[in-house]
Amino acid sequence: MGNLYVLFGHPVGHSMSPIVHNEQFSLLNIPHHYHAIDVEPGKIKEAVEAIKALSIAGANVTVPHKVEIMKHLDHIDEEARIIGAVNTIVNENGVLTGYNTDGQGYLESLLEVTGPDISDYKILVIGAGGAARAVVTVLCRYGVNDLMITNRTQERAEALSKDCGGQVISKEKAEGMLSEFDVIINTTSIGMSPNTDEMPMSVEGMKPKTIASDLIYNPLQTRWLAEAEKRGAVTHSGIGMFVRQGALAFKKWTGQEADLEIMTKTVLQQLG
Ligand code: ATR
Repeated sequence: MGNLYVLFGHPVGHSMSPIVHNEQFSLLNIPHHYHAIDVEPGKIKEAVEAIKALSIAGANVTVPHKVEIMKHLDHIDEEARIIGAVNTIVNENGVLTGYNTDGQGYLESLLEVTGPDISDYKILVIGAGGAARAVVTVLCRYGVNDLMITNRTQERAEALSKDCGGQVISKEKAEGMLSEFDVIINTTSIGMSPNTDEMPMSVEGMKPKTIASDLIYNPLQTRWLAEAEKRGAVTHSGIGMFVRQGALAFKKWTGQEADLEIMTKTVLQQLG
Protein backbone atom coordinates (compact mmCIF):
# COMPACT_ATOMS: atom_id res chain seq x y z
CA MET A 1 0.00 0.00 0.00
CA GLY A 2 1.23 3.50 -0.78
CA ASN A 3 1.78 6.36 1.64
CA LEU A 4 -0.43 9.38 2.10
CA TYR A 5 1.08 12.89 1.94
CA VAL A 6 -0.96 15.99 2.70
CA LEU A 7 -0.92 19.75 2.36
CA PHE A 8 -2.24 21.76 5.30
CA GLY A 9 -3.29 25.32 4.52
CA HIS A 10 -6.23 27.68 4.45
CA PRO A 11 -7.36 28.05 1.74
CA VAL A 12 -5.85 25.21 -0.32
CA GLY A 13 -8.37 24.95 -3.16
CA HIS A 14 -6.11 26.55 -5.77
CA SER A 15 -2.90 24.79 -4.79
CA MET A 16 -1.02 23.11 -7.61
CA SER A 17 0.96 20.88 -5.25
CA PRO A 18 -1.43 17.88 -5.43
CA ILE A 19 -1.28 17.76 -9.24
CA VAL A 20 2.48 18.20 -9.32
CA HIS A 21 3.28 15.57 -6.64
CA ASN A 22 0.73 13.00 -7.81
CA GLU A 23 2.11 13.27 -11.32
CA GLN A 24 5.64 12.56 -10.03
CA PHE A 25 4.39 9.55 -8.02
CA SER A 26 2.77 8.16 -11.19
CA LEU A 27 5.82 8.80 -13.35
CA LEU A 28 8.04 6.92 -10.90
CA ASN A 29 5.45 4.16 -10.39
CA ILE A 30 5.24 4.95 -6.69
CA PRO A 31 1.81 4.08 -5.24
CA HIS A 32 1.70 7.15 -2.93
CA HIS A 33 -0.97 9.85 -2.93
CA TYR A 34 -0.88 13.60 -2.11
CA HIS A 35 -4.02 15.35 -0.93
CA ALA A 36 -4.70 18.99 0.04
CA ILE A 37 -6.61 19.49 3.29
CA ASP A 38 -8.12 22.79 4.40
CA VAL A 39 -7.19 23.30 8.04
CA GLU A 40 -9.01 26.16 9.75
CA PRO A 41 -6.89 28.62 11.73
CA GLY A 42 -6.69 27.36 15.32
CA LYS A 43 -6.97 23.70 14.29
CA ILE A 44 -3.34 23.01 13.44
CA LYS A 45 -2.60 21.10 16.66
CA GLU A 46 -5.38 18.63 15.85
CA ALA A 47 -4.11 18.39 12.28
CA VAL A 48 -0.64 17.43 13.54
CA GLU A 49 -2.17 14.82 15.84
CA ALA A 50 -3.98 13.43 12.80
CA ILE A 51 -0.64 12.93 11.01
CA LYS A 52 0.40 10.59 13.80
CA ALA A 53 -3.00 8.94 14.33
CA LEU A 54 -3.43 8.19 10.63
CA SER A 55 0.25 7.42 9.93
CA ILE A 56 0.39 10.09 7.25
CA ALA A 57 3.95 9.84 5.90
CA GLY A 58 4.61 13.53 5.34
CA ALA A 59 3.09 16.94 4.84
CA ASN A 60 3.53 20.32 3.27
CA VAL A 61 2.41 23.34 5.22
CA THR A 62 1.32 26.66 3.77
CA VAL A 63 -0.31 29.93 4.78
CA PRO A 64 -1.39 30.56 7.55
CA HIS A 65 0.10 27.60 9.47
CA LYS A 66 3.85 27.68 8.69
CA VAL A 67 4.86 29.31 11.98
CA GLU A 68 2.16 28.04 14.32
CA ILE A 69 2.76 24.39 13.42
CA MET A 70 6.35 24.46 14.70
CA LYS A 71 5.46 24.13 18.36
CA HIS A 72 3.55 20.90 17.73
CA LEU A 73 6.38 19.02 15.99
CA ASP A 74 8.98 16.75 17.63
CA HIS A 75 12.06 18.18 15.88
CA ILE A 76 12.80 21.28 13.84
CA ASP A 77 15.65 21.29 11.35
CA GLU A 78 18.23 24.04 11.99
CA GLU A 79 17.54 26.07 8.84
CA ALA A 80 13.78 25.98 9.49
CA ARG A 81 14.46 27.17 13.03
CA ILE A 82 16.47 30.17 11.81
CA ILE A 83 13.85 30.98 9.17
CA GLY A 84 11.15 30.57 11.80
CA ALA A 85 8.77 28.61 9.58
CA VAL A 86 8.17 25.05 8.40
CA ASN A 87 6.81 24.05 4.99
CA THR A 88 7.64 20.33 4.99
CA ILE A 89 7.14 17.57 7.57
CA VAL A 90 8.58 14.08 7.52
CA ASN A 91 7.00 11.37 9.69
CA GLU A 92 9.55 8.74 10.69
CA ASN A 93 7.91 6.05 12.80
CA GLY A 94 5.68 8.58 14.53
CA VAL A 95 8.41 11.19 15.05
CA LEU A 96 7.66 14.41 13.16
CA THR A 97 10.49 16.62 11.88
CA GLY A 98 9.84 20.03 10.35
CA TYR A 99 11.93 21.43 7.49
CA ASN A 100 11.84 24.51 5.33
CA THR A 101 12.55 23.88 1.65
CA ASP A 102 11.45 27.35 0.47
CA GLY A 103 14.81 28.99 1.04
CA GLN A 104 16.87 26.22 -0.54
CA GLY A 105 14.37 26.02 -3.40
CA TYR A 106 14.81 29.73 -4.01
CA LEU A 107 18.61 29.56 -3.82
CA GLU A 108 18.86 26.69 -6.32
CA SER A 109 16.54 28.51 -8.69
CA LEU A 110 18.50 31.78 -8.44
CA LEU A 111 21.86 30.03 -8.95
CA GLU A 112 20.54 28.71 -12.28
CA VAL A 113 20.55 32.33 -13.48
CA THR A 114 23.63 33.65 -11.70
CA GLY A 115 25.94 30.63 -11.58
CA PRO A 116 27.31 29.38 -8.26
CA ASP A 117 29.62 32.25 -7.33
CA ILE A 118 27.47 34.97 -5.78
CA SER A 119 29.42 35.77 -2.62
CA ASP A 120 30.49 39.14 -4.08
CA TYR A 121 27.03 40.06 -5.32
CA LYS A 122 25.24 43.03 -3.85
CA ILE A 123 21.66 41.96 -3.17
CA LEU A 124 18.54 43.89 -2.18
CA VAL A 125 15.61 42.06 -0.61
CA ILE A 126 12.25 43.86 -0.58
CA GLY A 127 9.94 42.67 2.21
CA ALA A 128 10.40 41.11 5.63
CA GLY A 129 7.66 38.48 5.90
CA GLY A 130 7.98 34.70 5.98
CA ALA A 131 9.18 34.43 2.39
CA ALA A 132 11.84 37.10 2.95
CA ARG A 133 13.07 35.25 6.05
CA ALA A 134 13.60 32.08 3.99
CA VAL A 135 15.43 33.96 1.22
CA VAL A 136 17.66 36.04 3.51
CA THR A 137 18.59 33.03 5.65
CA VAL A 138 19.76 30.86 2.76
CA LEU A 139 21.56 33.66 0.94
CA CYS A 140 23.50 34.63 4.07
CA ARG A 141 24.30 31.00 4.87
CA TYR A 142 25.45 30.51 1.28
CA GLY A 143 28.00 33.30 1.77
CA VAL A 144 26.45 36.48 0.37
CA ASN A 145 28.15 39.27 2.33
CA ASP A 146 26.41 42.34 1.02
CA LEU A 147 22.67 41.90 1.48
CA MET A 148 20.24 44.70 2.26
CA ILE A 149 16.63 44.50 3.37
CA THR A 150 13.97 47.13 2.89
CA ASN A 151 10.41 46.83 4.15
CA ARG A 152 7.33 49.03 4.60
CA THR A 153 7.41 48.26 8.34
CA GLN A 154 10.98 48.93 9.40
CA GLU A 155 10.77 47.05 12.74
CA ARG A 156 10.03 43.85 10.85
CA ALA A 157 13.09 44.39 8.66
CA GLU A 158 15.16 44.94 11.79
CA ALA A 159 13.90 41.71 13.37
CA LEU A 160 14.68 39.83 10.16
CA SER A 161 18.18 41.30 9.99
CA LYS A 162 18.85 40.34 13.61
CA ASP A 163 17.55 36.76 13.24
CA CYS A 164 18.73 35.83 9.76
CA GLY A 165 21.34 38.36 8.54
CA GLY A 166 21.51 41.32 6.18
CA GLN A 167 21.35 45.07 6.82
CA VAL A 168 18.29 47.28 6.93
CA ILE A 169 17.95 50.16 4.48
CA SER A 170 15.09 52.59 3.86
CA LYS A 171 13.14 52.36 0.59
CA GLU A 172 14.19 55.89 -0.38
CA LYS A 173 17.86 55.12 0.15
CA ALA A 174 17.58 51.81 -1.71
CA GLU A 175 15.86 53.52 -4.64
CA GLY A 176 18.63 56.10 -4.72
CA MET A 177 21.31 53.44 -5.17
CA LEU A 178 19.51 50.87 -7.35
CA SER A 179 22.35 50.82 -9.88
CA GLU A 180 24.65 49.30 -7.25
CA PHE A 181 22.62 46.09 -6.84
CA ASP A 182 23.34 42.96 -8.87
CA VAL A 183 20.15 41.22 -7.72
CA ILE A 184 16.89 42.76 -6.48
CA ILE A 185 14.36 40.37 -5.00
CA ASN A 186 10.67 41.12 -4.41
CA THR A 187 9.36 38.92 -1.61
CA THR A 188 6.23 41.01 -0.96
CA SER A 189 2.79 40.16 -2.27
CA ILE A 190 2.71 43.35 -4.36
CA GLY A 191 1.96 42.29 -7.93
CA MET A 192 -0.07 39.23 -7.03
CA SER A 193 -3.57 40.62 -7.40
CA PRO A 194 -4.83 40.58 -10.99
CA ASN A 195 -4.63 43.90 -12.82
CA THR A 196 -2.73 45.66 -10.07
CA ASP A 197 -0.47 48.49 -11.18
CA GLU A 198 1.37 48.69 -7.90
CA MET A 199 5.10 47.94 -7.86
CA PRO A 200 7.26 47.06 -4.86
CA MET A 201 9.94 49.50 -5.98
CA SER A 202 10.82 51.81 -8.84
CA VAL A 203 12.92 50.33 -11.65
CA GLU A 204 14.47 53.64 -12.61
CA GLY A 205 18.17 53.60 -11.91
CA MET A 206 18.50 49.83 -12.25
CA LYS A 207 21.56 49.01 -14.32
CA PRO A 208 21.17 46.78 -17.40
CA LYS A 209 21.60 43.05 -16.61
CA THR A 210 20.50 43.51 -13.01
CA ILE A 211 18.70 40.34 -11.99
CA ALA A 212 15.14 41.28 -11.04
CA SER A 213 13.75 38.36 -9.10
CA ASP A 214 10.13 38.06 -7.99
CA LEU A 215 8.91 35.26 -5.72
CA ILE A 216 5.45 35.58 -7.27
CA TYR A 217 4.72 33.01 -10.00
CA ASN A 218 1.05 33.79 -10.59
CA PRO A 219 1.11 35.95 -12.64
CA LEU A 220 4.33 34.65 -14.21
CA GLN A 221 5.40 38.18 -15.01
CA THR A 222 4.44 40.87 -12.52
CA ARG A 223 4.30 44.49 -13.65
CA TRP A 224 7.56 45.11 -11.76
CA LEU A 225 9.31 42.32 -13.72
CA ALA A 226 7.89 43.65 -17.00
CA GLU A 227 9.10 47.19 -16.26
CA ALA A 228 12.51 45.90 -15.14
CA GLU A 229 12.82 43.90 -18.36
CA LYS A 230 12.13 47.03 -20.39
CA ARG A 231 15.14 48.60 -18.69
CA GLY A 232 17.34 45.68 -19.68
CA ALA A 233 17.13 43.60 -16.51
CA VAL A 234 17.33 39.82 -16.51
CA THR A 235 14.06 38.63 -15.00
CA HIS A 236 13.54 35.63 -12.73
CA SER A 237 10.03 34.61 -11.66
CA GLY A 238 8.96 32.57 -8.63
CA ILE A 239 8.06 29.45 -10.62
CA GLY A 240 11.55 27.99 -10.13
CA MET A 241 11.29 28.42 -6.36
CA PHE A 242 7.84 26.82 -6.26
CA VAL A 243 8.93 23.81 -8.30
CA ARG A 244 12.17 23.32 -6.40
CA GLN A 245 10.67 23.63 -2.91
CA GLY A 246 8.30 20.86 -4.02
CA ALA A 247 11.08 18.73 -5.49
CA LEU A 248 13.10 19.08 -2.27
CA ALA A 249 10.11 17.92 -0.20
CA PHE A 250 9.57 15.04 -2.65
CA LYS A 251 13.20 13.96 -2.16
CA LYS A 252 12.88 14.04 1.62
CA TRP A 253 9.76 11.86 1.45
CA THR A 254 10.74 9.35 -1.25
CA GLY A 255 14.53 9.59 -1.52
CA GLN A 256 13.99 10.13 -5.24
CA GLU A 257 14.60 13.08 -7.55
CA ALA A 258 11.50 14.70 -9.00
CA ASP A 259 11.63 15.66 -12.67
CA LEU A 260 11.96 19.46 -12.55
CA GLU A 261 11.22 19.90 -16.23
CA ILE A 262 7.93 18.01 -16.04
CA MET A 263 6.99 19.77 -12.80
CA THR A 264 7.61 23.15 -14.43
CA LYS A 265 5.62 22.21 -17.53
CA THR A 266 2.69 21.09 -15.40
CA VAL A 267 2.68 24.32 -13.38
CA LEU A 268 2.84 26.37 -16.59
CA GLN A 269 -0.10 24.38 -18.00
CA GLN A 270 -2.11 25.02 -14.83
CA LEU A 271 -1.32 28.73 -15.01
CA GLY A 272 -2.71 28.67 -18.57
P1 ATR B 1 4.90 35.99 3.24
O1 ATR B 1 4.89 34.82 4.18
O2 ATR B 1 4.36 35.66 1.87
O3 ATR B 1 6.21 36.66 3.19
P2 ATR B 1 3.85 38.02 5.04
O4 ATR B 1 4.61 37.42 6.17
O5 ATR B 1 2.43 38.44 5.25
O6 ATR B 1 3.78 37.01 3.80
O7 ATR B 1 4.71 39.25 4.48
C1 ATR B 1 4.23 40.08 3.46
C2 ATR B 1 5.32 41.09 3.07
O8 ATR B 1 4.82 41.91 2.02
C3 ATR B 1 5.72 42.03 4.20
O9 ATR B 1 7.06 42.43 4.01
C4 ATR B 1 4.77 43.22 3.95
O10 ATR B 1 5.22 44.44 4.51
P3 ATR B 1 4.89 44.81 6.06
O11 ATR B 1 5.86 44.00 6.88
O12 ATR B 1 5.12 46.26 6.15
O13 ATR B 1 3.46 44.38 6.28
C5 ATR B 1 4.82 43.29 2.46
N1 ATR B 1 3.67 43.96 1.85
C6 ATR B 1 2.45 43.43 1.59
N2 ATR B 1 1.65 44.34 1.01
C7 ATR B 1 2.38 45.49 0.91
C8 ATR B 1 2.12 46.79 0.36
N3 ATR B 1 0.95 47.09 -0.17
N4 ATR B 1 3.12 47.70 0.41
C9 ATR B 1 4.32 47.40 0.94
N5 ATR B 1 4.63 46.18 1.45
C10 ATR B 1 3.67 45.25 1.44
